[in-house]
This record gives sequence, C-alpha cells and structure tokens, in this order.
Amino acid sequence: MQVTRVATQPIEGQKPGTSGLRKKTRVFMQAGYLENFVQSIWSGIGGVDGRVLVVGGDGRYFNDAAIQVILRMAAASGAAKVIVGQDGLLSTPAASNLIRKRGADGGVILSASHNPGGPDEDFGIKYNTPNGGPAPEAVTDAIYAATQSIDHYLTLETPDIDLSTLGETRVGAMVVEVVDPVADYAALMEELFDFNALRALFVSGYKVHFDAMHAITGPYAVEILENRLGAAKGSVKNAVPLPDFGGGHPDPNPVWAKELMAAMYGADAPDFGAASDGDGDRNMIVGKSCYVTPSDSLAVLAANAHLAPGYATGLKGVARSMPTSCAVDRVAEARGMACYATPTGWKFFGNLLDAGLATLCGEESAGTGSDHVREKDGLWAVLMWLNILAVKRMSVGEVMAEHWAEFGRTYYSRHDYEAIDSQAANGLMDDLRAALPDLIGREVAGLVVQSAEDFSYTDPVDGSTAARQGIQISFEGGARVVLRLSGTGTEGATLRVYLERFDARDFGQDPQAALAPVAAAIEALAGIKARSGRDAPDVIT
Ligand code: G6P
Ligand code: ZN
Repeated sequence: MQVTRVATQPIEGQKPGTSGLRKKTRVFMQAGYLENFVQSIWSGIGGVDGRVLVVGGDGRYFNDAAIQVILRMAAASGAAKVIVGQDGLLSTPAASNLIRKRGADGGVILSASHNPGGPDEDFGIKYNTPNGGPAPEAVTDAIYAATQSIDHYLTLETPDIDLSTLGETRVGAMVVEVVDPVADYAALMEELFDFNALRALFVSGYKVHFDAMHAITGPYAVEILENRLGAAKGSVKNAVPLPDFGGGHPDPNPVWAKELMAAMYGADAPDFGAASDGDGDRNMIVGKSCYVTPSDSLAVLAANAHLAPGYATGLKGVARSMPTSCAVDRVAEARGMACYATPTGWKFFGNLLDAGLATLCGEESAGTGSDHVREKDGLWAVLMWLNILAVKRMSVGEVMAEHWAEFGRTYYSRHDYEAIDSQAANGLMDDLRAALPDLIGREVAGLVVQSAEDFSYTDPVDGSTAARQGIQISFEGGARVVLRLSGTGTEGATLRVYLERFDARDFGQDPQAALAPVAAAIEALAGIKARSGRDAPDVIT
C-alpha cells in the first residue's frame, strides 16, 4: 500500500497539559490538526517502526474517525501491530492494563476524561508509555518539541478499517488486532478482589446503584457487577456509552452526578452508590445519605486495603497529589507506611508504583488506584470499597464513622472558579507567590500562617523535578489551603482553591461551615472575588 507524505507546518498550542492534549472537538477536526499531533507523538517517542501499540478511547464524538487516522498513520510509519478495543472503545484503566499485559511499546488513548463530548464540546489524546502509565514530562516535552518543528506526516490511503469484528486484520503490513475491551480487565479484577464474598453480598439482597453516566464504564460495570457478581439487573444506570454522554457532564461528583445523589439521599436509598467518568478512571462513592470525598475514600482504602485478597500482604506505601487532603497521611503515620505528596497528575505516581515505593495512590479529583495498572481506576475503586464493606459487614456511613473515630476527620472541599480571564488568574497567582516569603507567622482572618510555599517536587526515583505546582499555605491547628490553575480546562483559566481543616473530635459539621474560616483567610490573602469577578465559586465539590 502506498505511503503518502503530506507536507504540513507547526500548529500553535499543541502542548500536552495535565493529561495529554485536550481541545475543543472542532479544533481537533481541523485539517491536519490530529495528524500533526500524532506524527509528533511518533517523533517524540523515537518512532513506531516495528512497535506494538494499544489504541482505544472513551467513545466520545470523533473517537471513531480519530482512530482510523491513528491506525493509518501507525501503519505508514511502520508499526508492527496495533491492538484496538472493539468499536474503538477502551476505558483508560483497561488500556493501561492491555499495554502491560501484552507487553506493548505504548498506547494512544482518546479521551477528554470527564469533560463533555460532542462536536461543540471537548476531545483529547494522550500517549501512555510501556509501563501503561501517562507519559512523563520528558516524553510530553519531546512530543511538544516535535509539534513545533514538524514539516510532514505520513499516512496510508486505505478505506476505513473494520473495528466491529474481533480478530486480526491488516492495514498495509501492520496487523490490527481487535479485542474485547472488557475481558482482560474483568479477569484482572477477579484476581484482586474476593468475587465469592461479593457474590454472597449480592445474593443477600444488597442493592447497588452504579451510574455510568452514558460513558465508557457501562459495559464494564454491567459485565462485572451484574453478570459476574449477580447484582440485580438494572443496577448499572445510563449503561450505554453515547458520543455526547447523553448531553451530560460525565464527571462523578455531587454536582454532575445529581441523579445518583438524589437516589442515595432519598427514601429507599440503595445500600451503595457509585459513578465513574467519561473514560472510566475517576470514581465517586456514596452510601445512604453519606457522600465520601475522594480524599476520605483514599484514606479509607489505605486503612482497609488488606481486607481484599490482592492487597492481603499490606501496602508498600501510599501517595497522594499535593492538593489532596492529608487524611491519608494520618493513616500512613499510624500504620508506619511511607506517604508521598506529588504534583497534580497521575503521571507523577508512575515511578513510585514502578519502584515499589507505593501500592495505593489517590487524588482529590476523584481518582484512586493501585499498582495493578498505571492509571487511576474507577471500577477498581468501587470493587475495593465493596470488598471492604463485604468483609466488615458495615454500611458506608459506619465505615466513615469508624475511620474518623480512629484517625480524626479532615474536612475538605474544592472551590472552582471556571473559565475566568487568564490574565487575571495568572496575576492572582503571581502576586500571591510574590507575597509568600512574608506570610509565615502572620495572622490572617484569625488563622496564623505556619508555612507558605510554591510546591515543587523532586521525584525520589529518577531525580526529575517539577516546579510551580501550586501554592500551599498551612495554618496553625491543621488547616491548609492550596491554589492552582487547572491544567485540563479548554477555556480561559480555571482557578482551583482546595480547603481543608483537621478536627480530632467533632465529626458532624457541615464541611462548608467547618471550612468557612479557611475560605475567609484565603480571600483576605488573595482577593479572589475581586480578581475573578465572581461572588462565589462556580463549582463546589
Ligand atoms: C486529570 C488527571 C488527574 C488530575 C486531574 C487534574 O484528570 O488525570 O491526574 O488530577 O486531571 O485536573 P486539573 O484540571 O486540576 O489540572
Ligand atoms: Zn477520566
């Protein structure tokens, strides 16, 4: 088959962010835009000649067309084989598992995660390395550099490749293997969790409400929860993935998973509720009238993971992103485990997991996972919770009460100011950064500043560094605030303000009330209202 060499030139703004390149779908649909980036991935990783790649996505609008482009371009650049999920579908954790299990040289995942999908919404693409994890900065920097000097890309003139039939076909000399997206992932979950105990739980009439939010986890959750574990048919809601996620915002938090929250806080609530995001790596856990924050979820899993067979020998260590609450630190301290704080972005956990320094990781942004893959994993977190509940024979609320009684409660909330003016947002951060050296010891709105820093990280494994990863101000008495600008937004700037306060005794407060003094202190320091032009955050989680 004829390889076509298409002349092109660099396109501005193809710099990967927190999680790959994310833009409005129509931007990706411009002639050559995707092609430029894909060829730059090939260049950034030293070519794909003779290599084996995994390719799949969350099924959002443009997923199908983009996969055809990638397959042609992989073949044109000499890849030996591409393993692709049937119909181009793969959840992010399932893609990570496939890369690892098949010993692939890497993978390309198409997703804008929890951002809405559709022609006027968002699309994204990211490259994962042979360990199954998101490319580290050295690799994304090389890809970005390639986008700035590209002058051609290679493709093949072929009709569309059939991705609906399992098995092998060829594009030019390259083998395309179409695989069942669920099978290998479900097998991995069976190795980690006590499926017999879970089946017994469901046989006893335990009720679960899993909201797949019209996104990729639908087929995975139906197979695992309903078919293999025997949860009642229909326990998985919104189970069919749709290109526009049914017009919704597939982000599992109390704001966007309204239906689930209503069910769990209503009369006759099921025993356990959960949701996952567009590409299946995020999770939300909620019991009867009991929402569990991602930071608390991580702490509970760290304290109880040994109850699941895959973690029975204990954890090597735990890791959290810096803005994630310190609740897990208290568990690690009590249990004598190492605890690492990394910059935001799952990629920073990769080395810790590979080196065996940490087994469990989590982020406030609704991500939890372990060393079973190199991505966060929504359904994994759900199964881990269910396994723990089955062993402890407790409700979610009882587990939380027990946890706080032992470790204390870290009240936590994130306030987001979305799509604000970029200059205003940068100005706010710059001015606060400049003020940091003089803050220590100062009293602000009744709280005394204990430490104030612009977070920078040195990876304990390879010594790589990442600076300016968020402003962190701690106050005496166990309160903390973190400010950073989102790295995943596609419009203006999104300012995230993360608030926490530790309480050793009083566990029944409303989180917003408990955190009001911390919010007042940061308002006094940073003048968020005036600078953002907003009276209140757009989203509170
Ligand atoms: C993606 C990454 C996460 C990260 C999150 C932060 O979901 O996979 O690892 O925590 O983005 O997003 P932000 O918008 O805060 O940069
Ligand atoms: Zn996601």
